[in-house]
Amino acid sequence: MGSTGNGVSMLVLFGIVVSSMVVACAGNLYQDFDLTWGDNRAKIFNRGQLLSLSLDKVSGSGFQSKKEYLFGRIDMQLKLVAGNSAGTVTAYYLSSQGPTHDEIDFEFLGNVSGDPYILHTNVYTQGKGNREQQFYLWFDPTRNFHTYSIIWKPQHIIFLVDNIPIRVFKNAESVGVPFPKNQPMRIYSSLWNADDWATRGGLVKTDWSKAPFTAYYRNFKATEFSTNSFSDVSWQSNELDAYARRRLRWVQKYFMIYNYCSDLKRFPQGIPAECRRSRF
Ligand SMILES: *[C@@H]1O[C@H](CO)[C@@H](O)[C@H](O)[C@H]1NC(C)=O
Repeated sequence: MGSTGNGVSMLVLFGIVVSSMVVACAGNLYQDFDLTWGDNRAKIFNRGQLLSLSLDKVSGSGFQSKKEYLFGRIDMQLKLVAGNSAGTVTAYYLSSQGPTHDEIDFEFLGNVSGDPYILHTNVYTQGKGNREQQFYLWFDPTRNFHTYSIIWKPQHIIFLVDNIPIRVFKNAESVGVPFPKNQPMRIYSSLWNADDWATRGGLVKTDWSKAPFTAYYRNFKATEFSTNSFSDVSWQSNELDAYARRRLRWVQKYFMIYNYCSDLKRFPQGIPAECRRSRF
């Protein structure tokens, strides 16, 4: 009898543990983020399951993570400003503080209805950026939520869209390029007006009659990598398998519209050292 009773209570206990894990996975945006500017233009609702930022003629808005991260995988689903989003920029990035800060950026440059957003990416190390790569997306990012992720390890930074790698920034310290690895970063996002440059280089201005502009966020997930696990052999091995490398090449071939590494005019003294290394 004793054993059956224990079995049942173990089962009940297991059920409770599993369901609380599910709740933890679903997350609560109130616990993870602070709404930092824009007054009530930034909102968390649906019991912490949905966050929105909006922009009107008076102000944009933004939020930041409560926690700082040093290496990890950060996933978030975004649904971008729909309709005529020309002139607006939705920035979603990791950054440390100060003049020699590191930064890993996704920036979504809006467009008039039916014309494609540009996904702009950049990596700053020790306060220096100038490492832009830009892409069109292979879907309409305003229609549904899509997952935008950053994998940040001592060996590399990988940008992913719906789990497809679009960009890899390898650690090139061996050729003198600083790599972000000592400064913890917070997650930031903001929606603001940048019609002096965002859409067709500033030609198309924000249409304020369409304001407020709103972007949505959900399903945030941060997986921290403990630093002592970096000695593990799995860290040494290539992050991207053959399939992922094919996807990366597919994105780079058909959707990349700007790559600083191929902008020879911009670097008359020679392209940056990290560009000369073989690709991932
Ligand atoms: C907006 O659409 C135009 C015309 O298709 C395109 O040239 C441009 O790259 C698009 N995106 C942005 C952000 O300007």
